[in-house]
Amino acid sequence: MSTQSVFLVGAPGETGKHILNALVDDGSFDVTCFIRTASENKPSTLQLRSRGLKTVPGDLSAPIENLVALLQGVDTVICCMSPMALKDQIPLIDAAVQAGVKRFVPCNFGTPSARGALALRDVMEDIHDHLFRQRLGFTIVDIGFWYQASIPQVPSGRFDEAIFMPVNDVYAGGETPNMLLDARDAGEIAARAVKDQRTLNKRVIAYGEVLSQNEIHEIIEGKTGEKLELNMISDDEARATLKVRKEAFEANPGERSNRFLLAAAQYAITKYVRADNTPENAAYLGYVSARELYPDFKYRRYAEFVDELIAGKIKKPYPEVTVWRPKAKE
Ligand SMILES: NC(=O)c1ccc[n+]([C@@H]2O[C@H](COP(=O)([O-])OP(=O)(O)OC[C@H]3O[C@@H](n4cnc5c(N)ncnc54)[C@H](OP(=O)(O)O)[C@@H]3O)[C@@H](O)[C@H]2O)c1
Repeated sequence: MSTQSVFLVGAPGETGKHILNALVDDGSFDVTCFIRTASENKPSTLQLRSRGLKTVPGDLSAPIENLVALLQGVDTVICCMSPMALKDQIPLIDAAVQAGVKRFVPCNFGTPSARGALALRDVMEDIHDHLFRQRLGFTIVDIGFWYQASIPQVPSGRFDEAIFMPVNDVYAGGETPNMLLDARDAGEIAARAVKDQRTLNKRVIAYGEVLSQNEIHEIIEGKTGEKLELNMISDDEARATLKVRKEAFEANPGERSNRFLLAAAQYAITKYVRADNTPENAAYLGYVSARELYPDFKYRRYAEFVDELIAGKIKKPYPEVTVWRPKAKE
């Protein structure tokens, strides 16, 4: 089997670590982890090196010749940097074209929607447009919403250690189906997709389950025996919250919490009110389903994930982030 050379941006991140592990476990990739120069001595970088993984320092805002030099001999670039840095993919795309990279996987791994529903998605679509203008080979991978970001708090507090964003607000009567995936499965899907000629110049959608909030609550209440404390939010309330948060963001875009609060309000509308995060919408938008591409893939089930939560085996993503409780009614 020939070795594919992969340049991975964001390897220490929450998505990146699963992609890295899947690429390493696969055994057919030669992986280079791009590390920001400022992060060269961070514990997360030292950990990569202690595993014998190749790291290269650099800066995506460096002159393009530096980036082209880093990408010599690279077949595939995979980006999974933090959402705040998405625009840094533009110079990397330009450099990838010059270096003869065959495939670029932009930083997506989210929910599908048209422009105008989610500011984050709009930036991703700008990046896609740049790829298309350059006619660089691409594979866009979206995965719905993480199981790890779809956990309500339970009254006993037994899930609190695993939750970075509790979801106790219920929208649209809790009935809207949503594609969900265990973040750990995202890595293997990405590794399969970049080895697959069928996914070149395609959008791929992967999901472990399609569940409504009511179905999630039934699973959790059934397994814990606890009655969830939930806040019912009407569509009008969700739209009113979005308006308030949009105004707050426009008045002070530099305030980080304004950006997070706006994103949460936009996700509530796109996921639950508009029902954008569904297999049907993904098919409408032209995605190829990973379920059809890889029928043998064994997805983790949400109920199994809850068993792991109960057993205290799920680690909180973004451990440095203090638990953030969005308030839907404002
Ligand atoms: N579907 C879902 O439910 C879900 C949930 C979460 C995230 N996501 C998506 O997954 C993707 C990755 O997000 P994430 O939360 O996994 O990322 P993250 O954990 O915040 O990853 C941060 C990584 O990006 C690196 N980075 C930050 N700025 C950079 C820059 N300017 N240049 C190069 N590297 C940079 C960081 O490096 P340092 O070590 O230098 O800081 C770190 O390795 C995003 O598209 C996000 O929207 C989806």
